[in-house]
Amino acid sequence: MQTLEVKKDIHWVGVLNATLRAFDVVFEARFGTTYNSYLIQADKPTLIDCVHEKFAGEFLDKLRSLINIKDIQYIVVNHTEMDHSGALGYVLKENPNAQILSTKTAALFLKNMLHMDFKGKTVEDGECISLGNKQLKFIHAPYWHWPDTMFTYLEEDRILFPCDGFATHFCDERLFDDRVDDFTPDFRHYYEHVMGPYRKKILDAIEKIKGLNIQLIAPSHGPILRTDIWKYINAYKDWSTPRKDPNKRLIVVFYASMYGNTKKMAEAVAKGASIMNTEVKLFDAASVSPEFMRCEIESADGVLFGSSTINGDALRPVWDIIDIMFSVNIKGKKCATFGTYGWSGEATRLMEDRLKGLKLNVVQPPFKVIFSPTEEDLKKCAIFGYDFAKSL
Ligand code: FEO
Repeated sequence: MQTLEVKKDIHWVGVLNATLRAFDVVFEARFGTTYNSYLIQADKPTLIDCVHEKFAGEFLDKLRSLINIKDIQYIVVNHTEMDHSGALGYVLKENPNAQILSTKTAALFLKNMLHMDFKGKTVEDGECISLGNKQLKFIHAPYWHWPDTMFTYLEEDRILFPCDGFATHFCDERLFDDRVDDFTPDFRHYYEHVMGPYRKKILDAIEKIKGLNIQLIAPSHGPILRTDIWKYINAYKDWSTPRKDPNKRLIVVFYASMYGNTKKMAEAVAKGASIMNTEVKLFDAASVSPEFMRCEIESADGVLFGSSTINGDALRPVWDIIDIMFSVNIKGKKCATFGTYGWSGEATRLMEDRLKGLKLNVVQPPFKVIFSPTEEDLKKCAIFGYDFAKSL
């Protein structure tokens, strides 16, 4: 695929990586990805972000098909992660006079990535730079998803370049959102994995761009968004907004139950935790998608985990929930564990150990019941829940 005109004098000069299946090793990319870069052919030609180093040759050829690389005056680095900055050194070798525009943090990161001299200018939040016949405005957006990140807004064409923001790992060479296949689940998947840990920061930056007249969002991965722009922005806003009653403490209870006994415990624990100032949400871990639980966990003041013990371990669905917590802001969040067992009952302790490792605050000892809970056991479960609620 060659270059693609996004608007007059603005070209996509990115590359396709259709065969990628795991991004950064851990994030599934079931339809591959694209590394999007954009060339603005203004009076002062400007490049917005670059691509992965692996595709540097193809990238330079695309640029050469549109411009003499030496004529590029500015290179905007919205974010320095190597899938965007990997090819930057190759552009600078051909044009050492191009000036890099970035945040201060990005400039520092680049220094340690490029190991070469470069002409840089750091831009402040809200600062504008004239390209002659067009103007760029920079909006700092730290932790979208690195601390270095900013958005660039091209005022005349009303295009927002948010780098990883509003991006999708989705490779379809038709590129525009109204031409490609349905990428809705992948857009959400990307948000949850990449942006999910920084929900508060997402809301902060959305507040900054809400006054902009955006007609097109040109992210650095996947489809270019030009249909109902605010649908995408509002989706980010919705997914980032805490799901809780602001006047109550939220407790989320996850359980996995082989024969319904841990489920009975979970229901009794949830009932006991439902005191005047708490809201309790109970989830069967086997029936929910872990990645959609991030916002619930992050919104919660306390999290309880219940699991039966099988072969000396907790059940897989509970581990799947716990496994996504490394990418959620959970440090210091209160938690405790419970569950039924037949003869050994390691599940509660193993869950507790992992939660401690994730820096959660275990506020009370595990509560275990052998085989099926009696009425007396269920009363104790309710007290366990009540004590937990009181600790918040
Ligand atoms: Fe697409 Fe954070 O890099």
